Amino acid sequence: MSKVYVFDHPLIQHKLSILRDSETSVKEFRELVGEIAQLMCYEATRDLPLEDVEVQTPMGIARCKRISGKKLAVVPILRAGLGMVDGMVAMMPNVKVGHIGLYRDPETLEPVKYYFKMPADISERDVIVVDPMLATGGSASAAVKFLKETGARSIKLMCIIGAPEGVKVMQEAHPDVDIYVAAMDEHLNEIGYIVPGLGDAGDRIFGTK
Ligand code: PRP
Ligand code: URA
Repeated sequence: MSKVYVFDHPLIQHKLSILRDSETSVKEFRELVGEIAQLMCYEATRDLPLEDVEVQTPMGIARCKRISGKKLAVVPILRAGLGMVDGMVAMMPNVKVGHIGLYRDPETLEPVKYYFKMPADISERDVIVVDPMLATGGSASAAVKFLKETGARSIKLMCIIGAPEGVKVMQEAHPDVDIYVAAMDEHLNEIGYIVPGLGDAGDRIFGTK
């Protein structure tokens, strides 16, 4: 069974409270999604393997640690996941980025794929899938299924807000994929929105409503 990490860091919780606020502007919403992703990235990469190195400082030799050749990729689920990419890249400037375009059919809530472009060597990479919302889990579990078909080595899912329904779907479909969220909310409403959530993440990032 996969693990679910809920980040209780005060900076993340503070920013999330502003993000949820329906009065928050598009500009601020966008900035906060990026900042929260950056802080979450810091925590979600805690298990990256390190190797010992010796560095010549102006004063002598320092025994240090460096990340040991880990090949990572960040994969946003379009559209809303795009809002998290800059924050991840700020922490990992050389990371490769793949894109999965999915939207939820408003009638069935089933994910519909419209774009899929991965780094050529995705099968040699560990992947962090990013999407602000894990609601029914349909989009995230479909994205992970498509990624597994490419042979991606190991996959993590990083979302800002999760719902219990989405976590259950993910854990049943992909027990090998750990889930990182800034908050676990109460439930979904009758049209699949997270309550209390923050509304439609894509519309709030891109100002489309
Ligand atoms: C939102 C969100 C997730 C999905 C979550 O995307 O960004 O991808 O819904 O819902 P689920 O867990 O029930 O699948 P949406 O389909 O609204 O598309 P958008 O990002 O293009 O707005
Ligand atoms: N997608 C969103 O953007 N928000 C929700 O609450 C659920 C799915």
